[in-house]
Amino acid sequence: MLKVGIIGVGTVGTSVAQILKDNADVISARTGVAIEVKMGIVRDLEKVRDLDIPLSDNVDDVLDDEEIDVVVELMGGVEEAFEVVKKALLKGKAVVTANKALLAYHRYELQELAKDIAFEYEASVAGGIPIINALRDGLSANHIESIMGIMNGTCNYMLTKMTNEGVAYNDILKEAQRLGYAESDPTFDVGGYDAAHKLLILASIAYGIDAKPEDILIEGIQNITQEDIAFAKEFGYAIKLLGIAKKDGNDVELRVHAALIRKEKMIAKIDGVMNGISVVGDKVGETLYYGPGAGGDATASAVIANIIDIARAGKKAPMLGFDKPLEGLLRLKATDDINSKYYLRINVSDRAGVLAKITKVFEIHNISVETMLQRPSSESSANLLISTHIALEKDIQDMIKELRTLDFIKSAPVMIRIV
Ligand code: NAP
Ligand code: HSE
Repeated sequence: MLKVGIIGVGTVGTSVAQILKDNADVISARTGVAIEVKMGIVRDLEKVRDLDIPLSDNVDDVLDDEEIDVVVELMGGVEEAFEVVKKALLKGKAVVTANKALLAYHRYELQELAKDIAFEYEASVAGGIPIINALRDGLSANHIESIMGIMNGTCNYMLTKMTNEGVAYNDILKEAQRLGYAESDPTFDVGGYDAAHKLLILASIAYGIDAKPEDILIEGIQNITQEDIAFAKEFGYAIKLLGIAKKDGNDVELRVHAALIRKEKMIAKIDGVMNGISVVGDKVGETLYYGPGAGGDATASAVIANIIDIARAGKKAPMLGFDKPLEGLLRLKATDDINSKYYLRINVSDRAGVLAKITKVFEIHNISVETMLQRPSSESSANLLISTHIALEKDIQDMIKELRTLDFIKSAPVMIRIV
């Protein structure tokens, strides 16, 4: 019998307890042992819950229980969760977590602390998709050239509904929260931070890069409007929030932002709460992973896979995939040095000479225009819709700064990268 304590019995924790019960037959057949949830920890014991496991509001009831072999951390947050899992490891208990925010900040310290104790985190990236397993084990013979994909179910759900049904941003965010997709603070989702946390975890496994969220380019979907979605559709693009890790010599660029993707590309077709991640290895070529990126049951499926793995007690890969640092260390590329194609929507006063002044600013900043189109937006103003050739991030940012100072620019220019 393997005994488990669940710290945090909310959306995911409740599903973990329920599935361990519903699927006990197949789980014990696969592991050879029964798995019992001995105790669940919540914050508010007064809340009505559909659960039949013993509950407490004191984490020490799990951490100090000598019979509990595995601590499943599903409470979320960073520092408090860090203290909890640290204590669990110091007491020699295996840990399973779905907490990407915790790992984004403390994964290397946790690897150091865990040593030979199992510390598993499959559900922390892309919910139900076994991407950690694929990257850490299945693709371990490869140098990873790139990882690119949709890593946040909430944003993908919102962008899909905004695109296909014209639903307003705030209404659809509330729905994603009700469905249990969003983080307890949903600005983590819409601000791109949740996707960034996941990207950083994948970047450690793929490249051994020890970066923090503050070190990389992170933008969310808060500024995506129906206007830009409509223009994107008209020109044959979908807008998706992407996480991108790309190796370029000894540099690795890491970035999270909304992107325009040609609608015939596979990633552009991934809709709703689904996540989809492409990983390119130097020997295997491109591999694709697709599935539900959020939600109680889908996430619990990955959490329980880790518990089953621990029950089997086989030889494990090192927590972050590397036994020793890679020779000729890879470096994080500076955000300014990233290059991309860009879509710009610049709302201007519709009068003589404006276009010439704008193209001058483009020239000064070394930005080459690929296509340009003007659409009236009112009697006296127009949207300039511009796509650029590949340009440097720093040049684009400097150019936008300068554009904002010009008196004929009616509102802050919108910029979306084209992938
Ligand atoms: P949730 O529904 O908000 O559940 C959190 C649980 O933790 C609740 O039971 C809460 O107690 C408890 N809790 C929070 N702080 C606590 C504290 N200080 N002491 C004791 N209990 C505490 O969150 P969730 O959606 O299940 O997510 C849990 C974790 O999984 C997070 O790290 C999240 O990022 C990750 N994750 C979630 C999903 C998803 O689709 N939801 C997918 C992948 C990963 P109360 O019930 O009393 O409030
Ligand atoms: N809030 C996250 C998402 C949960 O929407 O993708 C899964 O990690």
